[in-house]
Amino acid sequence: MLLKPLVALNMLAGAVVASPDSTLHAKKARLEAYIQNEKTVALQGVLNNFGPNGSLCRGAAPGVAIAGNSETNPPYIYTWTRDTALTVMSLIGEFLEGNSSLEQLIQQYITASAKMQTVTNPSGSLSDGAGLGEPKYNINITAFNDPWGRPQRDGPALRASALIAYGNHLLAQGQQAKALDNVWPVVSNDLAYVGEYWNGTGFDLWEEVNGSSFFTTAAQYKALVEGESFATALGKPCDACTVAPEILCHLQDYWNGTAVISNYPTNGRSGVDINSVITSITIFDPAATCDDATFQPCSARALANHKVLIDGFRSTYGVNKGREPGEAAAVGRYTEDIFMGGNPWYLATLASAEQLYDALYQWDRQGSLSVTELSLPFFRDLVANVKTGVYPKSTRGYKTITDAVRSYADGFISVVREYTPTHGGLSEEYHRDTGVQVSAPDLTWSYASFLTAIARRNGSVPPSWSSSVALTFPQKCNPTTVKGAYATATPSPW
Ligand code: NOJ
Ligand code: NOJ
Repeated sequence: MLLKPLVALNMLAGAVVASPDSTLHAKKARLEAYIQNEKTVALQGVLNNFGPNGSLCRGAAPGVAIAGNSETNPPYIYTWTRDTALTVMSLIGEFLEGNSSLEQLIQQYITASAKMQTVTNPSGSLSDGAGLGEPKYNINITAFNDPWGRPQRDGPALRASALIAYGNHLLAQGQQAKALDNVWPVVSNDLAYVGEYWNGTGFDLWEEVNGSSFFTTAAQYKALVEGESFATALGKPCDACTVAPEILCHLQDYWNGTAVISNYPTNGRSGVDINSVITSITIFDPAATCDDATFQPCSARALANHKVLIDGFRSTYGVNKGREPGEAAAVGRYTEDIFMGGNPWYLATLASAEQLYDALYQWDRQGSLSVTELSLPFFRDLVANVKTGVYPKSTRGYKTITDAVRSYADGFISVVREYTPTHGGLSEEYHRDTGVQVSAPDLTWSYASFLTAIARRNGSVPPSWSSSVALTFPQKCNPTTVKGAYATATPSPW
């Protein structure tokens, strides 16, 4: 199997003059050194933004994170349910890998979440659950009352998943009572919210489009599937969890045969959006096969979509000039974005790498890789003469393809490296033409996404959420919902 002509030429030249080969080595060494250093910066960056002790937390309550280090333009001294849940999931990963110093913060987050659920806000209150869809709060856990794109229905689902991840750890440690008293009551409210409101419209993760969002639907499905197992382990019922198959059915609606259309309505956009890749990494199940139905990172759908999405940014940003298909590029939210001038985002570029590391893990675990008609264009950018077929792990073809995917993934980290200033701080965005940092400095979610991408690169993955056992869904979707029961959760001191 031949590599892409350009690469093959380089290798040929390398045999004659030493420089391209040593350049490659130097490039690799630079990347490894960057990653080593940036890991420390990123973890500290997350911790700095959490109350009560973080150096940038502005007095945030214990377990509450600011979105980023920016008072105005954008005003990020607030706490978002989504950002914090995704960040805590990343911290739980670090904790499960052995960083036990993070446990107190995880527990403080759970206690803060219980309190936040009781705050009556412009989305509603806890009595009928509607208040749980509120996207952001003041950092002292009071309501943010100004106009906003609300509700955002991904928040409760993501928070449930974060809490379940820690709850499952407690169960594995034999701490059943703690899981039952401190974790389950909070989770139960969030699952009830998902079961009752999943079919209602709401704003997407970018807080712009009111309708249905792929990311939200997927996060809801995952929460209910793992909620069911968690409830069962605790001997509790989960009535809400029964609608999971209906949500999975609805998830299929976002696939148009070529790519994921992330929002309905599309509001005049193409609908091709990093929403889709962030979804894939969020519902990544290390034990899954390459299921199209759940858009697993290694699925043909998710890979085909990855190419369509990344290619869109090549001609959009000045910094991507010369970055041809198959070469990593700077990635933003969606090409039509105008927020802060419409720039690449660190968390978007990192997610683009992370999906590929996840896929590599899944292929390795299942012992083979398939190239299908649908995923062929993705693979062909990396290995020019690749053919459709199954490549068992023992074959040269498998090695050629997976090596190429890995260096493609590493390329996205190299792009992030190129636009990281020497202090290592990660803002929200970097400028589309100059690469200079734009928007909020020290974005909590940017740091968290660095940590997860690098964890996956190192083969560290979350526990399975049993996506494959829950794959059946009805032929015709029904918008069934379940009326929820909500109660104030009062975790006892940890
Ligand atoms: C528009 C942005 O695109 C969105 O992400 C942001 O949260 C809101 N404005 C509020 O600043
Ligand atoms: C704007 C982003 O679009 C949204 O996803 C995020 O929750 C907020 N900023 C806060 O970081």
